[in-house]
Amino acid sequence: MSVECFVTGGSGFVGQHLLARLTATGHKTWVLMRTPANIERVREQIGRLGGNPACIHAVEGDISREGLGLSEADKQRVSSASVAFHLAAQFSWGLTMERAREVNVQGALRVARLAASQRIRLLMVGGFMLQNLSHLASIGVDNECHENTNWPAVYGRVGGYEGSKLESHFAVIRYMQQAGADFTIVHPATVCGHSESGHILQGQPLAELIRNLAQGRFKAVPGTTRHWLPLVSVDYLVTMMTCAAFDPAMANQQILALYEHTPNLQEMLEQIAKTLNITAPRRHVPIGLLRWLLTIPGLAARFAISAESLNFIQTQRFDMSHSRQLELKYQLTHPDMARALEKTVRYIKGYLTH
Ligand SMILES: NC(=O)c1ccc[n+]([C@@H]2O[C@H](COP(=O)([O-])OP(=O)(O)OC[C@H]3O[C@@H](n4cnc5c(N)ncnc54)[C@H](OP(=O)(O)O)[C@@H]3O)[C@@H](O)[C@H]2O)c1
Repeated sequence: MSVECFVTGGSGFVGQHLLARLTATGHKTWVLMRTPANIERVREQIGRLGGNPACIHAVEGDISREGLGLSEADKQRVSSASVAFHLAAQFSWGLTMERAREVNVQGALRVARLAASQRIRLLMVGGFMLQNLSHLASIGVDNECHENTNWPAVYGRVGGYEGSKLESHFAVIRYMQQAGADFTIVHPATVCGHSESGHILQGQPLAELIRNLAQGRFKAVPGTTRHWLPLVSVDYLVTMMTCAAFDPAMANQQILALYEHTPNLQEMLEQIAKTLNITAPRRHVPIGLLRWLLTIPGLAARFAISAESLNFIQTQRFDMSHSRQLELKYQLTHPDMARALEKTVRYIKGYLTH
């Protein structure tokens, strides 16, 4: 059955693959775009990714504007959607708390309001660290009663991007519960390229890590042999998102999109280095020491690494039972992730050498 969907963040990395998946399966999509003149470029790209460009329509808007900045006519257009996929976010390190809150927290609430007012499912993308409860506790997030959280202090500890992702998660759930509206949240691990083509956009955290390793900026492995950076392929992620979005049983549920057998960081760097024909670092550096080193002026730029990116390298193992149930129901499986990583590295090598 094909339905209409509203998508924010459709021009981004995950959004492009989601649009390809939705339109390849016949769904008409309304894509919120800050610059609708770019729609042709997006359509061409979705075509290259295997989607159906004819099913993609732009509506002009911006999540940082009241009512998403939608015109009355566009509001009417998107009112025929059955699901609102919210992916748009300002995804960068070094964001101020004010900017991060305006786009990532207030923006998410604006999309939630639209979905609730139209009585349609909101499918929101969170992040896997929201399922790392000991991490949340350690940075001062009160998981039971988040009204007690001192958000400015949390932003101070983890930075604007991560702070705003955490705050928006709790704010949207509270809003949707109060409105009696239907939501589903998918929490991705760090997203790896497409398992067949390796396609990934420049600037993505994994692409930056691979680039830094290729350019010899990675001098040591952050953390210990227990530290890992969980991955998920973009194709598995968007398939899981669409399964969850259209499943009535997923109302008000949260689910992890994460490959639990991702190797530890040292092994992952070795796999990447092998494809790059270079030697991976062997020495380990404690994350706390690295964080301190990065406060020294110039060092963060020299190593092209931000302290904020270290938040995602951790030792937590996750309860995957909920994800496994959905995998069983939809016969969804992770691709061969060693191969997906290799393809991703080759894809990045391609744009590093051009
Ligand atoms: N990639 C990962 O590793 C990862 C991991 C966990 C969670 N996530 C989450 O997954 C979601 C998608 O991530 P991504 O990697 O696809 O991000 P991305 O490539 O950086 O794309 C971000 C998208 O958001 C749009 N956007 C930004 N500000 C906007 C605004 N004010 N109004 C409307 N649209 C705006 C951008 O549109 P423009 O084209 O106009 O810039 C772009 O389409 C995000 O919520 C992110 O937090 C990602």
